[in-house]
Amino acid sequence: MRLLSLLVTVSLTLAVAYYIYTPLPDAIQQPWKLMMLDAYFRTGCCRADLAPHFGLLSTRGFEGIMKGLISESSPGPVPGVKVSDITFAGIPVRVYEPPAGGEGHLRRGLVYFHGGGWALGTTSECKYFGSLFCINKLNTVVVSVEYRLYPEVHFPVPYLDCLAAAKHFLSPEVLAKYAIDPERVAVAGDSAGGNLAAAVAQEISVDDSMSVKFSVQALIYPVLQALDFNTPSYVENQYMPILSRSFMIQFWVQYLNADLSLVPQFAVNNHSTLQHSAITPELRSRLDWNVLLPQKYKKNHKPLIVEKGSHGVLKKVPGLLDVRAAPLLAGPEVLAKCPRAYILTCEYDVLRDDGLMYARRLQDAGVTVTIAHYEDGFHGCFSFISWPLEFDVGKRALRGYLSWLQNNL
Ligand SMILES: *[C@@H]1O[C@H](CO)[C@@H](O)[C@H](O)[C@H]1NC(C)=O
Repeated sequence: MRLLSLLVTVSLTLAVAYYIYTPLPDAIQQPWKLMMLDAYFRTGCCRADLAPHFGLLSTRGFEGIMKGLISESSPGPVPGVKVSDITFAGIPVRVYEPPAGGEGHLRRGLVYFHGGGWALGTTSECKYFGSLFCINKLNTVVVSVEYRLYPEVHFPVPYLDCLAAAKHFLSPEVLAKYAIDPERVAVAGDSAGGNLAAAVAQEISVDDSMSVKFSVQALIYPVLQALDFNTPSYVENQYMPILSRSFMIQFWVQYLNADLSLVPQFAVNNHSTLQHSAITPELRSRLDWNVLLPQKYKKNHKPLIVEKGSHGVLKKVPGLLDVRAAPLLAGPEVLAKCPRAYILTCEYDVLRDDGLMYARRLQDAGVTVTIAHYEDGFHGCFSFISWPLEFDVGKRALRGYLSWLQNNL
């Protein structure tokens, strides 16, 4: 009996260790913590797998895990910061206002779109950021936008929600009400929120009816294109926690309201084959990493451009070519009008090259760009900054971000 229970215990322990263990690059600090976090995420997704009609990444179970993880690891409200849940142009927003300062001093403003693959997350994740921006000498009014998510809505609804809230915030009356300097308003977001921030920044930059525009855009590992899932970073980091290539493709497929059966096709770039005349050489050059990336990131990778792939995908999924979904596809004339940019990228992130290519294209269009690249960074690290989910690289990334805003906003 004893032997049997010992055997069972040992096998169970081995099974759990096997489940949790993921080989990670040496540069990753606190690897076991990241493996545990990843296992936690995968567990949420497997459970979701049992209810495919809900969509893999959208069940309550998974949402609960995300919410629990992030809000538990965020400190509570900061004294002096006023928090209000209101609506801007009908879109729910949470506004953080710093403690009243000196009379007559205008404050900074910042609109934040949270990440979560357009399917997960809430404004409460920004509780900590919101308070930090307010108190950290930044004296900033922060607006976190509760845009609608998959499966309730698909593209372009999340984008349109964000755009409407941003435009409302930028109106001279609203800025005056919050005592915000119209020359010092930023748009920001992480991951899918970085996608929304980049797309909203582009639209507002070219909208002549907007008298106030964003002065800076701060993008944290943004998602920027869906035509090439074989960039060096997608290939190298396809199994990296906490965002694998297949999860990212799936988030795209859901966002663009496409059929989940397309995921394997997208993974081999069958959706962007040379057969599609709509993908002109000019358009292709806008995400040609062979030209846009420094050699350091290209290494020995070869572009994957498929001669013959799947027919009709672009007709079925028009969002693939829509700049409002894929801001990297915007032309140089649009990019030239965009605000100064801060782009945070992580070495161990499928989205690294999306961010680096966008940085290069903005620079080519004459925009000043600061690239904050974290050699030991992984996707999502910016959200894990306090106990029990604190990662040193996340804290460094947040400090760097705040100090850039301090000097540039
Ligand atoms: C990609 O397209 C080719 C040509 O149509 C097809 O043979 C192949 O099975 C497709 N790959 C996937 C993963 O669907």
